Amino acid sequence: MADVQKIGSGKVRDIYAIDDDQLLLVASDRISAFDVVLPQAIPEKGKVLTGLTTYWFEALGDVCPNHFISVSAADLPDIGYDDLPGRAMVCKRAEPLPIEFVVRGYLSGSGWKDYRSTGQVCGHHLPEGLTESDRLPQPLLTPATKATTGHDLNISEAEAAEIAGAERYDAARTFALDLYRRGAKAALERGIIIADTKFEFGVYDDEVILIDEVMTPDSSRFWPEDQYAPGRGQPSFDKQYVRDWLDDSGWDHSPPPPELPADVVGASRDRYIEAYERITGRPFESWLKEVTA
Ligand SMILES: Nc1ncnc2c1ncn2[C@@H]1O[C@H](COP(=O)(O)OP(=O)(O)OP(=O)(O)O)[C@@H](O)[C@H]1O
Ligand SMILES: [Mg+2]
Repeated sequence: MADVQKIGSGKVRDIYAIDDDQLLLVASDRISAFDVVLPQAIPEKGKVLTGLTTYWFEALGDVCPNHFISVSAADLPDIGYDDLPGRAMVCKRAEPLPIEFVVRGYLSGSGWKDYRSTGQVCGHHLPEGLTESDRLPQPLLTPATKATTGHDLNISEAEAAEIAGAERYDAARTFALDLYRRGAKAALERGIIIADTKFEFGVYDDEVILIDEVMTPDSSRFWPEDQYAPGRGQPSFDKQYVRDWLDDSGWDHSPPPPELPADVVGASRDRYIEAYERITGRPFESWLKEVTA
C-alpha cells in the first residue's frame, strides 16, 4: 500500500493526503439525511457523485480553475479500499475557504421559510407575492458557515467577506454565480431544474479555485422540469425521496435512524444513476469504462 494518510472522514467522503500538494477524495456510498448518516449505503452513489463532479469540471473548466488532477484508475494510489475507480479523484490540496457558497435560483427550503417570514432571502429583498418553488428574478448567493457540527448557519455576504477576505470572497462569489447560471442552463436543456446548489472554494498557489463536489444530487436540489409546478414542494432526484420515506416512517430525526427497506434503497440508487444520465446525456456505464480505460 502507498504511503497515503487518511486525514479526514466526512459524512460522505473519505479524504487522504497523497503528499503536501495532493489529496485523494473518495466518495463513499453513505447517505445522510437530516444530518444523520443512515445505516444503509446506496450502491454506486459515490460513483455518481464523482462522475457528475468530473463532468462539471470539464464542462465548466473555462469559468474558473478547479482542483481536478485525475480520476483514472492508473493514477489512484493503492489504499486498500475496495472498488475505488469511479468514486475517487486525485486533486490539488487547497486551503478551503470556511464558507459554503450557496446559490439559489428558486424559492425552496430555508430560502422559502425566510421569505415567508421576512419577505427576504438572507438579506436579499425580493418582490412580494412569490410562492413556494417560484423561480427567482435572478440567482442569489446566500453564504453559510461550514459548521463543524450540526447544521450550517446562513450569514450575510458582509460577514462572509469578513471571514474569507474581501478579495477572495468576491472572486469566489463571481465564480459561484457564473457556475450556477451556466450549469442550470445546461441541465434545463436536459429536463432538470437545478433549484439551488452549494459550492466550495479553496486557495491554491495564491489563487481561488473550485474544490469539493460540483452540482451533484447531494449538494443541490434537482427537480424534473416536466413535473415542475410552483405553489408546492417539488418531486426531486435528490435525497428528497429518502427524506420523504423517513418522514412517513415517523422518525423524529434524532439518532438512531430507521433501517431503509430494500426497495427504497433500490429506488434511490436508480434515481442517482438517472440524475447522472440525464445531466450528462451519457450512460452511467460509460463513466465506469472511462475511468478504467
Ligand atoms: N481540493 C481540496 N482541498 C482541500 N480540502 C478539500 C478539497 N476538496 C474538498 N475538500 C474538503 O473535503 C471535505 C469533503 O468531505 P465531505 O463532503 O464528506 O465532508 P463535509 O462536507 O465537510 O462534511 P459533511 O458532508 O459530513 O457535512 C470537505 O471538508 C471539503 O472542504
Ligand atoms: Mg461535503
